[in-house]
Amino acid sequence: MQFPTARPRRLRQTETLRRMVRETVLTKNDLIMPLFVAPGKGVKHEISAMPGNYHWSTDTILTEIEEMLKLGVRSTILFGLPESKDEIGTGAYHEHGIVQQGIRAIKARFPEMHVVTDVCMCEYTSHGHCGIIKGETVDNDPTLDLLARTALSHAEAGADMVAPSDMMDGRVAAIREALDRGGFAATPIMAYSAKYASAYYGPFRVAADSAPAFGDRRSYQMDPGNAREALRETELDVMEGADIVMVKPALAYMDIIYRVKEAFDLPVACYNVSGEFAMVKAAAANGWIDERRTVMETMLGFKRAGADVILTYHAKDVARWLDEER
Ligand code: PBG
Ligand code: ZN
Repeated sequence: MQFPTARPRRLRQTETLRRMVRETVLTKNDLIMPLFVAPGKGVKHEISAMPGNYHWSTDTILTEIEEMLKLGVRSTILFGLPESKDEIGTGAYHEHGIVQQGIRAIKARFPEMHVVTDVCMCEYTSHGHCGIIKGETVDNDPTLDLLARTALSHAEAGADMVAPSDMMDGRVAAIREALDRGGFAATPIMAYSAKYASAYYGPFRVAADSAPAFGDRRSYQMDPGNAREALRETELDVMEGADIVMVKPALAYMDIIYRVKEAFDLPVACYNVSGEFAMVKAAAANGWIDERRTVMETMLGFKRAGADVILTYHAKDVARWLDEER
């Protein structure tokens, strides 16, 4: 069939028809909203370069969780700003660490909120790297034990899922073993499998106070030029026991999302990171783009590329806009 018999425009004539034949749909179930937990009481401190995102203390965060639940955003991923930092990131795996306190506060009041935790060392180490330092570099194998302890302490505090973001080799296996031994065989691991060394993490590093004090993360996070290596990283995580695999960042790595989705049969997540969020917010604030349409189109793009789950700072707005679409 070809023109004039074939006329693709026939199915684009009304909104009802367009919706009927739409191949990809976005729902609130796809969303995970990142939140930052900080020490103290009564804290609600807006993060620069991330408008609408705050440092929350364990009391004020409950108001945000309540609002998210009302909007239908039922999952969060927690990041922590510890009271103090040291060489070995003690605050990451302390029973009463800031994230552990945050989990307990949230689950006590809102057990229905699905609480994921980011498992990494960089927010807790004085040097800001994602593992233990030996000489000039991050020492892989001794770091695994600390990551495993961190994940276990999150599960013990009530986390529903753990998400290692450090990019050490072998961390999924180490975490799986620690969770299983600790009685948490049912706790899923969402692995940041293909995480690139990216400039798009800029606003987050200010927000989480986690920029490396020396050097960069290129000896453990992936080189942006590599796609086949993303499949190898993902394969290793799958073999080690990952339940969900993640691609991060999302916008500049849609091809990676697509490839990972094609190659594996596990759910795929993507992280719409802080720099991607900040760009949209800045352009929208200048009146240069339509924020709502831009964000919704981007979210749809992630799903079309193959993402089942989207971690995004836009989650609350997206939920509101989905409600308005009905
Ligand atoms: C920690 C971590 C980072 C992000 C999530 N977990 C930053 C980094 O690797 O330096 C980035 C999130 C964002 O930019 O929104 N390893
Ligand atoms: Zn890190």
